[in-house]
Formats: sequence, C-alpha cells, structure tokens
Amino acid sequence: MHTARDIIESVLEKPSVFKSKEKLFPEYVPKYLPHREQQLKQLASLFKPLLTDPGSISQRALLVGGIGTGKTVTARRFGIDFKLLARRRGVKLEYVHVNCHRDRTLYLVMQEIARQLHIPVPQRGLSAQEMYGNILKDIDERDIYVIITFDEFDYFIDVAGNDAVYFLIRTYDEYPDMTKRINFIFITRDMYNLGKLDSATESYLIRNVIHFEPYTSSELYDILAKRAEEAFYEGTIGDDVIQYVADIVGVDKGGRGNARLALEILLIAGELADQEGAQRVTIEHVRRAYVKAEPDIVVIYDSLLYLPLHELLILLAAIRALSSKGEAYVRIGEVEQEYQQICEEFNEKPRRHTQVYEYVMDLKRLGIIDARVSGRGYRGKSTLIGVRVGPLEALEEKVLEIINKRYREARRM
Ligand SMILES: Nc1ncnc2c1ncn2[C@@H]1O[C@H](COP(=O)(O)OP(=O)(O)OP(=O)(O)O)[C@@H](O)[C@H]1O
Ligand SMILES: [Mg+2]
Repeated sequence: MHTARDIIESVLEKPSVFKSKEKLFPEYVPKYLPHREQQLKQLASLFKPLLTDPGSISQRALLVGGIGTGKTVTARRFGIDFKLLARRRGVKLEYVHVNCHRDRTLYLVMQEIARQLHIPVPQRGLSAQEMYGNILKDIDERDIYVIITFDEFDYFIDVAGNDAVYFLIRTYDEYPDMTKRINFIFITRDMYNLGKLDSATESYLIRNVIHFEPYTSSELYDILAKRAEEAFYEGTIGDDVIQYVADIVGVDKGGRGNARLALEILLIAGELADQEGAQRVTIEHVRRAYVKAEPDIVVIYDSLLYLPLHELLILLAAIRALSSKGEAYVRIGEVEQEYQQICEEFNEKPRRHTQVYEYVMDLKRLGIIDARVSGRGYRGKSTLIGVRVGPLEALEEKVLEIINKRYREARRM
C-alpha cells in the first residue's frame, strides 16, 4: 500500500517530455513565424506610413486564407512587434485585436475596442456610433495611433451587416483634414462573404489583400520543429516524428495544410507519451494522436474559445444527454435538465428557457449542433437536438477544458 502522499508525489515527480506545453497551444503567439515572412513584409510595407508620416493616411489590409493558415497569429505577432518598433521611433501606437465571432455587433465591437484601449464606457445610454466618437476623441487627446484587427470578420458582415461595415470604413470621409489615427486589418477565411456588401464597401476592403495558402509538409516541418524546440525537452522528440506529423497534414501530401491541426497532433502525441511514462515521443504516439485529434473538433476549437460560458455549459449538457441516451437526437427538455444539473455542479445560476433556446440556435448557426422540430415517432412537438461534431467523448473533453480555462482566467482577474 502507498500512502496518499506517495501517490500524489509520484504524479508531481513524474517525468514529462514537455518543458513548456503551452508553447503548443493555439493561442500562443511565437516569435518566429516560418513561411509567413512574405505576409509580414507586406503588412510592414502597408503600415509603414504610420511611422514615417503618422496621421497622413488610414491604412487597411485584408488577410484571406483557409483554416489554420496562420492569419490570426500573423496579425497578432505583427501587432506586438510593430507597436514596439513604432514606440522606438517615437510614435505611440496601440494594437487592438477583436474577435468578431465573439463580438459580432457594432456595439459589442466598440465596447471591446474601448476596453482594450482602457477607455471607460458609461454603463448605458450610448449608441455604438457615439461610443466610436468617444474613442476617436480619446485617442486624439492621447495622441496615439491604433491598428484594429477584425478577426473572423465574416461573422461581423453577417450579423452587423453592410451599414455597420460602411460606418467603419467611412471613419475619415467626413473630416478629410483630421489626423488619421485608426487603421484596420480585416481577417476572413474566404472572399465569398464580401460579395454580400455593396460594391463601394467591397472595393474598399479588397484594396490590399494578403493571401495565406495552406501549408505544405516541408513548411509544416519548419513550423513544428521551431515550436517543438520550445515545448519539448531536448532528445524527447525526433526529426522523423515531426516529419511524420508534417506529412499527415501537409496540403501537398493530401492533408489540409492546417497548422492548428498539426500542433494539436504533436501536443496529444506528447501527452500520450507522458501517460505511458515513455521517454520519447514515437511515430506510434503520433498515429494514435491523429485519431484523437479530430479535425472537426480542431476546426471548431476557435469558435468554442469565445462562446459565452452558459453556451458552453449548454453544449456540454447536450453532449452528456446524447452520450447517456446513446441516440442521435434528444429533446431540448432533456438537454435543459442536464444543463440545470451542470449549473449546480459549477455553482452557476441557470439561464431562462428563452436564453437557452437562443444559445441553442447560435450553436446551430455555428454548425456545432443540429436542431430540428420532432416529426413522426415522437409524442408532441419538441425541438430535437443532435451534435454534429464528434466523437462525443473527445468533444466533451475539449469543452470541459475550455470551461475550466474560463474559470482559471476569471480567478486570475
Ligand atoms: N507560420 C507559423 N509559425 C508558427 N506557428 C504557426 C504558423 N502558422 C500558424 N501557426 C500556429 O497554428 C495555429 C493556427 O494558426 P492561426 O490561429 O493563426 O490560424 P488562422 O489562419 O487564424 O485559422 P482560422 O481561420 O481557423 O482562425 C496557431 O496555433 C498558430 O500559432
Ligand atoms: Mg484565426
């Protein structure tokens, strides 16, 4: 028999292949971005006038590319470094990154911009337009310049609509002599949604397009090798293993060219090695990790990251209701029951039915769940809920991970 302390200690002292696992997380912004040199150069030359002749123009760029091609990380890295280099040249520049998946109305976007710029927002009463006016005034008084990234801009176009986009891009139209302090980076997976805008707005947006192609296996190799160097202890992962991951995901080898998926496979492979107490990550770990790193789940990971807490709890409820019933669909009532239990578990006050329904519809819009009205074979009319992404067990794990992360962050604040 081992004492409790022995058992706890054995876990604490268990060796790991990781020296810093977070370096593989999707939200980490590394200093090196192999194979995005071209895109960084394009951004730098577009925004150079902010440093050489600040206030002369309001610049914009549109980043376009598929899932996991490095759009978000390139914009963030550019923001961090450009800000620093601007300050060294005596230009006060701030970088603001807004995720339109989370903040998809003009009002929410303005609130988020104000928050990141530390501009106080009155509790109520201001319209989005007035709030923008306040932001412009504030940065003018502070003599700062701002680059604002609208990430996942497709959602903004869909929900906020043409007028909201038009409002943004006209910032300086009415006052041509004003110092131009606001600049934009827009990010989208494809150009399709831009077609929903009127042609003047569309042509404004597509003036400076920067493309992000899916990664080839040799590009992924360089990316993974660099990240692995930071994340793993020396000697725990071989080049052949990294090459193998790159080959699975590389677009030239039939994969999706999605770096997020490649990093996820590497992370899971390392975790599997740890679980076994292995000293090295092997090809076999990668094979097993690939099965676990469900591409579908990796694709929706970013969406999950920004969902309101209770939307995540409802998704968790749907997953659990479906797993325990073992059927393709469950009634919304069953999901709500499960949701109430989960709320108890997390010490949360459950939201009302109408709000729950709205969250369900949002999850449906995101393609994560399936909701339809019951037909034959069911007594009474009810909304039936299924989950599109799977396997459920893996999805449950991811959702829980994000919920727990949310609580950790809340505690830190
Ligand atoms: N060139 C690169 N070097 C290092 N890491 C990279 C590179 N490109 C992408 N990554 C990493 O891959 C993951 C996915 O990249 P990112 O989130 O930027 O993709 P994205 O193009 O924004 O995808 P999505 O359209 O799904 O939002 C992130 O963890 C990012 O850090
Ligand atoms: Mg992104």
